[in-house]
Amino acid sequence: MPILGLGMFSLSDSEAENSTYWALKHGFRLIDTARIYGNEEAVGRGIKRAIDEGYVTRGEIFITTKMWTSDYSDGAAAIDASLSRLGLDYIDLMILHHSQPSNDVDAYKAMEQAVRDGKLRSIGLSNYYEPEDFDRVVNATTIKPALLQNETHPYHQSGLMKEHIAQYGTVLESWFPLGGRGNTQTLFNDETISSIASAHEKSSAQVILRWHLQAGQIAIPGSSNEQHIIEDYDIWDFELSDEEMRSMSALEKDERFSWY
Ligand SMILES: NC(=O)c1ccc[n+]([C@@H]2O[C@H](COP(=O)([O-])OP(=O)(O)OC[C@H]3O[C@@H](n4cnc5c(N)ncnc54)[C@H](OP(=O)(O)O)[C@@H]3O)[C@@H](O)[C@H]2O)c1
Repeated sequence: MPILGLGMFSLSDSEAENSTYWALKHGFRLIDTARIYGNEEAVGRGIKRAIDEGYVTRGEIFITTKMWTSDYSDGAAAIDASLSRLGLDYIDLMILHHSQPSNDVDAYKAMEQAVRDGKLRSIGLSNYYEPEDFDRVVNATTIKPALLQNETHPYHQSGLMKEHIAQYGTVLESWFPLGGRGNTQTLFNDETISSIASAHEKSSAQVILRWHLQAGQIAIPGSSNEQHIIEDYDIWDFELSDEEMRSMSALEKDERFSWY
């Protein structure tokens, strides 16, 4: 799957449609949305525009959506509803949005059935922060999660979970890769990050995204600004040195910007 994508959290319908379209036009191939964001239909329109205008084909792009906790009791219906809102006949990756021990295994099994039926290409989990909680789902099901999407950025590097899930071949995907809306300046102005950015004549956002990829996790920054979207994809022409990676890793504070 692509290792860099654009996220749709908190974007209005028009923002989500345009951001999806701009992302695909400017090089992104992975889009991350969720039923609870309320913008799956708009994402579907953005995808259709980009395909109709010849920027991408369906086979070249990778669409992720998430099942919300209140839908876990009827996962099959939730999958069909997301497919219909997105206007797709298959979804590349669906993940459970949060741990919910009362019925997340049932929802995961519904996703496994949808893989067998060809509706989902891959499945995974989001917001599992304890190894035991992750294993609870893995041990009760058959298909190993392709990825775990958790809050991850230089101040919360998710080392424990990243190491734990590797035994299953599961990779980490970072949400709030830039710290999240309202918090980005904290990371952008961090002295270590901004001085690495100056040295490479890149922005702090680009340095942080580069750090995610070089550390081995997938990053899905969110943006409703076309220039930021172009900037966030323009990270292939430089590399952080081992020493720069070590100084970024030393920023770990075990500090989350979100409550869940
Ligand atoms: N699984 C979960 O529970 C969960 C939770 C939260 C998020 N997510 C996913 O993760 C994605 C990313 O999270 P997020 O969007 O909340 O946070 P984020 O990517 O860490 O930060 C988004 C903020 O960064 C700004 N930004 C992006 N590129 C920039 C650039 N080049 N220069 C300056 N500012 C820039 C955006 O502003 P502009 O719009 O002005 O560019 C926005 O304010 C979400 O969209 C969603 O898909 C998942």
